[in-house]
Amino acid sequence: MSDLAKLNAAQAALTYVKDGMVVGLGTGSTSAHFVRLLGERVRQGLRVKGVPTSEATRNLAEQVGVPLVEISQVTTIDVDVDGADEVDPRFRLIKGGGGALLREKIVAAASTRMVVIADESKWVDVLGAFPLPVEVTRYGFALTGQRVRDALIETGCVGDEVILRTSGKSNEPVITDGGNYILDAHAKAIAKPGELADALKRIPGVVEHGLFLGLARTVIIGKAVGAEIKES
Ligand code: 5RP
Repeated sequence: MSDLAKLNAAQAALTYVKDGMVVGLGTGSTSAHFVRLLGERVRQGLRVKGVPTSEATRNLAEQVGVPLVEISQVTTIDVDVDGADEVDPRFRLIKGGGGALLREKIVAAASTRMVVIADESKWVDVLGAFPLPVEVTRYGFALTGQRVRDALIETGCVGDEVILRTSGKSNEPVITDGGNYILDAHAKAIAKPGELADALKRIPGVVEHGLFLGLARTVIIGKAVGAEIKES
């Protein structure tokens, strides 16, 4: 059900891609649907160049035949299509569940239009039930985590737990494509996303955070049948 909704959102996003465009390629399971669908269109003759937001997306795009361009070779990106962990009615997002938030934000900010594709479960009234990913340098990460916790408290978040993201049986820290760690900030409810974003950016050791504010222009909510397109 949810995967079909993701597929329907990805399908609807294809209408934003025109011949000759440079396209930001997001990361995650919804974006993966989009990349596969785009590969089909390329085989039918569509000419695009993709800018991947992670090594995982780069690998997938290569497998399905989407031509790629290095971000250093482009001055602008026509459209960026990416998933989200949460979207609120003001099109503010939490992203980074897949750990790709740094590249995702660089690509989104360089794009003329960011199109968010998500299933209905991602649409929320208040951001924060999904833990906010914060990418930090490995050096001093525990101290940085304390400052992140302070920022959650100072900006009125309901929760203040900050947990180093790990994976595997041995609980090794997850390393991002940029070589950093991810702290997951369990804010539970983020009362003031703008203030929290500013506070996080001021912390030495924070490389980027998963609050995407003022970036999304279009949100496509996939459903079991079809998709709803919302424009800002
Ligand atoms: C990766 C992301 C993803 O877009 C987000 O986690 C949503 O993933 P999915 O489409 O698998 O639900 O931000 O860093």
